[in-house]
Amino acid sequence: MSGPDPASVRATFERVAHRYDLANHFLSGGIDYIWRNRLVKLAGKENCSRVLDLATGSGDVLFALREGLPPSTHITGVDFCEPMLDQARRKRSLKGLDEESNGFISGDCLKLDFPDDSFDLITISFGLRNLADRKRGLSEMNRVLKPNGRLIVLEFSQPYFWFRPFYYFYLRFILPWMARFVTGDRDAYLYLGTSISEFPDRFGLVQEFEDTGFDRIRFSALTFSIVALHEGHKKG
Ligand SMILES: C[S@@+](CC[C@H](N)C(=O)[O-])C[C@H]1O[C@@H](n2cnc3c(N)ncnc32)[C@H](O)[C@@H]1O
Repeated sequence: MSGPDPASVRATFERVAHRYDLANHFLSGGIDYIWRNRLVKLAGKENCSRVLDLATGSGDVLFALREGLPPSTHITGVDFCEPMLDQARRKRSLKGLDEESNGFISGDCLKLDFPDDSFDLITISFGLRNLADRKRGLSEMNRVLKPNGRLIVLEFSQPYFWFRPFYYFYLRFILPWMARFVTGDRDAYLYLGTSISEFPDRFGLVQEFEDTGFDRIRFSALTFSIVALHEGHKKG
């Protein structure tokens, strides 16, 4: 479950931060809005007053949760890349949202600076794949969740078998060039393709949830299973 080098992950996001949102919407053809909405819909199915959005990046998941959850919900976004957080804070002030219940703080998912049993819900969107040690990250998430609290992971997955050749052709040969056009950084998006191909499929991630102490696990495959939405509960 060991993953990419954290220093190079941080450096990659530092380089693309100023164009991250544009690249996201352009390279996904806008489907990222639909994926995020699915996450928010799932989040709203159970009560949650304290929410943590990990690897929050430029904050789009936090803002979508803010729109979809009750106004009293307290949401905190955590990321270890300051330029991404700067984008999130800039967008928060453009939206006129307060800092108190929409906090963006610097931190490492592998060593969360929160006491045990703090949150009702943790979300992590396109972040788990980037962690240097996924097992440790999942254990930290389990630790800071309240008993019966939920973890929701939105992440790239392994597409349905028949779709794989097209998808990996797109990832290897088309996406890096399109990304270069939008962000000026082809390498960051070569990394994207590699990290996706090395990430477990839907069933593999269910196993990793189980191994770290989650139960009542379920998942949905989205867009030919390019992406999957997993949910698990911390044992009560
Ligand atoms: C692909 S972006 C996802 C951003 C956002 N969640 C979204 O859905 O658009 C991945 C983010 O994970 C962050 N990240 C990677 N490893 C991290 C770690 N160990 N601790 C905190 N943030 C991390 C990166 O800085 C980056 O902002």
